[in-house]
Amino acid sequence: MSQADFVVVANRLPVDRDDDGGWRRSPGGLVTALEPVMRKAEGAWVGWAGKPGLDLEPFDFEGTHLVPITLSAEEIQNYYEGFSNDTIWPLYHDVIAAPRYRRVWWDAYVDVNRRFAEASADAAAEGATVWVQDYQLQLVPAMLRSMRPDLTIGYFHHIPFPAYGLFSQLPWRRQVLEGLLGADVVGFQRVADAGNFARAVRRQFHYTTKASGITVPLEDGSTRNVLAKAFPISIDAESYIELAQRPEIQARAKEIRESLGNPKTVMLGVDRLDYTKGIRHRLKAFGELLQDGKLSVEDATLVQVASPSRERVEAYIQLRDEIELTVGRINGDFDTMDHTAIRYLHQAFPREEMVALYLAADVMLVTALRDGMNLVAKEYVASRIDNRGVLLLSEFAGAADELGSAIRINPHDIGGMKDAIMRAIEMPGAEQGRRMRSLRRRVLEHDVSDWSKSFLEALATAKR
Ligand code: G6P
Repeated sequence: MSQADFVVVANRLPVDRDDDGGWRRSPGGLVTALEPVMRKAEGAWVGWAGKPGLDLEPFDFEGTHLVPITLSAEEIQNYYEGFSNDTIWPLYHDVIAAPRYRRVWWDAYVDVNRRFAEASADAAAEGATVWVQDYQLQLVPAMLRSMRPDLTIGYFHHIPFPAYGLFSQLPWRRQVLEGLLGADVVGFQRVADAGNFARAVRRQFHYTTKASGITVPLEDGSTRNVLAKAFPISIDAESYIELAQRPEIQARAKEIRESLGNPKTVMLGVDRLDYTKGIRHRLKAFGELLQDGKLSVEDATLVQVASPSRERVEAYIQLRDEIELTVGRINGDFDTMDHTAIRYLHQAFPREEMVALYLAADVMLVTALRDGMNLVAKEYVASRIDNRGVLLLSEFAGAADELGSAIRINPHDIGGMKDAIMRAIEMPGAEQGRRMRSLRRRVLEHDVSDWSKSFLEALATAKR
């Protein structure tokens, strides 16, 4: 098999399977960001095709060599739904839902991480750079280093890294830290995440941690340096601008407003249906504003896109029930024949439709209780080529570190969130313009290609 000088390892491959068995590039930002890098380096991407038992040979797709990892139905249950999404996900999002610590899940996580590491070791050429992505694969860096000491290994953590008081609950905390310390550079979304990681390493291993890196002692008495640093991820901003400029997408935005009965204000929430997103808190605030008579359905409609996610994990099943009960109650109490309070869509839409929604929305609600970054906030901002619209942004989303001109909210403070919603609805055009221009400047100046460039530069320097 041919070997690549640049290898990305992620839980998911960058392609989705069509109904007719063909492949389509996935719409995500990471995929878009890495596409030019992959093309240039004739890179390889190791990942899971998203279906149980699918056993595929490596294949080439649009200039990238794809190496599919097979997961059995049982491995999906234990490694993906179990340890990744019922242990690590809730623990790292500040235990909004209770993490479950099950030894069979951990065992599967170790086995599957080893399989990813082996496939990456096979795919990488001598001296290659390997970039491991996210919490599903925290053990891969150290496994890969022991198999292939010649490689340069980067790891990027897309979700929060929790404070030590929470992280220390994890029965396998030392193994996870050791796994991550196998990388030359460990990247995080926020400065606070990198700080939490360094603190966990100090507490567990008593290694010296400085801004220039963590000193990891080796068996032969020498040391390795591991850089732990924030590299906030972004979006492919130009592609959102290009879509927002298209006349047919602008016409679609108008049509969306009309089909909602032309309310004075359209508010929008766009999330994976996940308990970290604060969807219930947002619905509560909006429901109370209708109840208080501060808003009516003629004044304001909330469009809530909640795309299906991790549908076999118990906490997600429960959350869906709670949200759908709440939406039904609010709509039942306040809808008229012509207007609805909440247009709820448990669906995923193509990017064109998302941009039309962003253009149709006067107020964007990002109310996450905890979020690594939240790219939806950046997508909304990039799409607002008219410099209008108001972003409400939770201070618990990584994006809050960069998007200082948004209206900041604490989603736990329902009263404060109601005030912020009213302020957004009533905000004069001039103030909207001032804020939106400043938000857009940040997102356009720091797009996803800057993100991958700065990470890969740090990685190249770290190895030298
Ligand atoms: C978050 C994670 C990603 C993950 C995505 C979708 O953004 O950081 O690693 O791929 O959610 O979740 P899923 O479980 O469907 O891959």
